[in-house]
Amino acid sequence: MEYLTFALAKGRLAAKTLELLEQIGITCEEMKDKSSRKLIFVNEELKLKFFLSKGPDVPTYVEYGAADIGVVGSDTILEENRRVYEVLDLGFGKCRMCVCGPAFAKELLQHHEMIRVASKYPKIAKDYFYNQKHQTVDIIKLNGSVELGPIVGLSDVIVDIVETGSTLKENGLEVLEEICPLSARMIVNQVSMKMEAERIKKILQALKEALKKCEL
Ligand code: PRP
Repeated sequence: MEYLTFALAKGRLAAKTLELLEQIGITCEEMKDKSSRKLIFVNEELKLKFFLSKGPDVPTYVEYGAADIGVVGSDTILEENRRVYEVLDLGFGKCRMCVCGPAFAKELLQHHEMIRVASKYPKIAKDYFYNQKHQTVDIIKLNGSVELGPIVGLSDVIVDIVETGSTLKENGLEVLEEICPLSARMIVNQVSMKMEAERIKKILQALKEALKKCEL
């Protein structure tokens, strides 16, 4: 039997995913050792491998087949636009992709003005402004702490993830428009989905049942 390899986005999503996998009997004890610098973990009994990577790299590993299965936020799936199958909404990691800024910037979104938009998600921002709002904007790519954009005068608004809203509030910004809801998703390599159909479908079915139980 070949190994099935999982790529998990580092951080909270990976921790939640491992909890969920444990509920269906998939464990990886090696991974729980926080002091370890190992990058890849193996469950020999189940012939499974796991590795952690930066979120935006997860769809890349899955598209190229370096991982059969990935778990990552739908924000990253939309931004990376890789050829993978999105097979399951895991329901956790819920947040929203929004246009945010100071309250007075709301006006700038209503008259098709040429504005500056800072974002870690230039593709999502471009798609929203160009294809949905038909507003020509200047998109500036940032790599984090995007809320700084309007505060320091780099941009008029930002396109970013809002979870609790506290980062915005503490920085005098607010949600001006909502683009879409987001959550953690499971993605599968297109070839693996055919070659390993039985094993993957079994895992998906068990996960769906575990998620149903969580809802009850
Ligand atoms: C994300 C996002 C916001 C914040 C939203 O940033 O970019 O800054 O979380 O969460 P909240 O609504 O609960 O305050 P992250 O912590 O991933 O770091 P980053 O700014 O470096 O991207």
